[in-house]
Amino acid sequence: MDQVTLDFTHSKGNISRYLYGHFAEHIGGVFYDGLWVGQASPIANILGFRQSLAESFRKLNPPVLRWPGGCYAETYDWRDGIGPRHERPTRVNWWYSHDKRLESNQVGTHEFMDFCRITGAEPYIAANMTSVTPLHIRNWIEYCNFGIGTTLSDERARNGSPEPFNVRFWGIGNENWGGGGQMTAEDCAKAYLRYSTVCDSLDKGNIKFIMCGANGHDVAWTRRLLQEYASRKGNEVRAWGMSVHYYCGTAGSPTAFTRDEWYKQMRQAYYMRRVLDDHRAAMDEFDPERGIKLVVDEWGCWHKDGSGPSRGYNLYEQQSSMRDAVVAALTLNLFNDRCDFVEMANVAQLCNNLHSLYLAGGEHFVETPNYHVFSMFKTHQDARHIPVVVSTDVFEGEGQPLPLLSASASLKNGKITITIANLDMDAARMIRLAGIGGGVSGQAEVTVLAHDDPRAHNSFENPEMVMPITVSRILAEGDILEAPPASVVSIVLCPQQNG
Ligand code: AHR
Repeated sequence: MDQVTLDFTHSKGNISRYLYGHFAEHIGGVFYDGLWVGQASPIANILGFRQSLAESFRKLNPPVLRWPGGCYAETYDWRDGIGPRHERPTRVNWWYSHDKRLESNQVGTHEFMDFCRITGAEPYIAANMTSVTPLHIRNWIEYCNFGIGTTLSDERARNGSPEPFNVRFWGIGNENWGGGGQMTAEDCAKAYLRYSTVCDSLDKGNIKFIMCGANGHDVAWTRRLLQEYASRKGNEVRAWGMSVHYYCGTAGSPTAFTRDEWYKQMRQAYYMRRVLDDHRAAMDEFDPERGIKLVVDEWGCWHKDGSGPSRGYNLYEQQSSMRDAVVAALTLNLFNDRCDFVEMANVAQLCNNLHSLYLAGGEHFVETPNYHVFSMFKTHQDARHIPVVVSTDVFEGEGQPLPLLSASASLKNGKITITIANLDMDAARMIRLAGIGGGVSGQAEVTVLAHDDPRAHNSFENPEMVMPITVSRILAEGDILEAPPASVVSIVLCPQQNG
């Protein structure tokens, strides 16, 4: 018997809603024709964006959306994406050498802002730090955020938006240790300081700059980055955040994996805790007041190409099964439990790509199991964190021990949300809920996302193969909940008032 104990006697603070963020890059089929179908399309659309998808996405209360890359950001010239769409240049996309696709620039700054407005997401722009000048990025910020009366802000008004976009989140660089210029950590910190100083002069102190951090667990790189950054103390434009990207690597086919590959994938996902904890420890050496927030601005499973509906046409498009859903739930639980130092996370990527919430093409559109996890977890956003102690079995096998149950909890508007991932592919887990300093009984909505086959996924042909089922029930003290094998469970509880 497993036990999930909620400790009401203390809290790590609020769970930032930005931990439930998203990412959409100009790569493969993410925009064309995933998110974007164009206004002239026979497919129902809102200002050119696929209506079914936009409406579905809106329901998740998406807090933030990162754009336009990824690697793509490092060759992006924002001027290509403004003005009348039929006059925009066609460019060679950063990913051209992988898929020979060109970039039409039909989605640019104004369209991205439209999508954010339609769906309620706050924009996060990832700016090029490799192949344009700091002035070029400063001009983009001026174009987006300056009230009126400059040549650039007037141009924005002529292009349809007299009101400034007021974009607060600006990433300076993407993966500058790799595709973003192959920089050393020291060079990356110096470039960040150069770009952010120039950019900050426009709107002093109001922009949240995100400095490009390490690849996965490369904490040594982070130390060198922060050492260089900290050596300018007093002069630097304070980075609001530092990014880290972590993907779970291939563990067999996305839809035909073996039992060993299931557990390999779970271990990779569970490794996120080391990426986070070791990063924070390194950051504490240089930033003991914790002024810089950790931003996991790309995460997810990176499977082999070709399993998605376009059969390999859309670069990195992959199917997402129950396994990916459990990875998502485990990862979000890890973030919730580190809400005292992880402030933002963006799952990669929204549509037709890695770990996507949606697959779409032509008239087809489907929500993947990942979508349902984000839906089941959304009440954690901006809720008060409740520490959780999980007592469960550990899977030994090869590599690090893997606890078979993951959980996190929070409180908002008088309701407790408990989210659970059962990493056990072989058996259901029987779970007793308990509380310290408070009870866990009352009226509950219990939602279970599961399937007899952990390889199950949603497709255009069978869009509802994996669907959550919600049951209302009274939870009494000592009740036992069952989490089916390879499942995700959420409980939203109106706690019974004692006395
Ligand atoms: O998400 C796909 C790619 O993965 C991104 O462009 C890049 O930042 C990362 O390597």
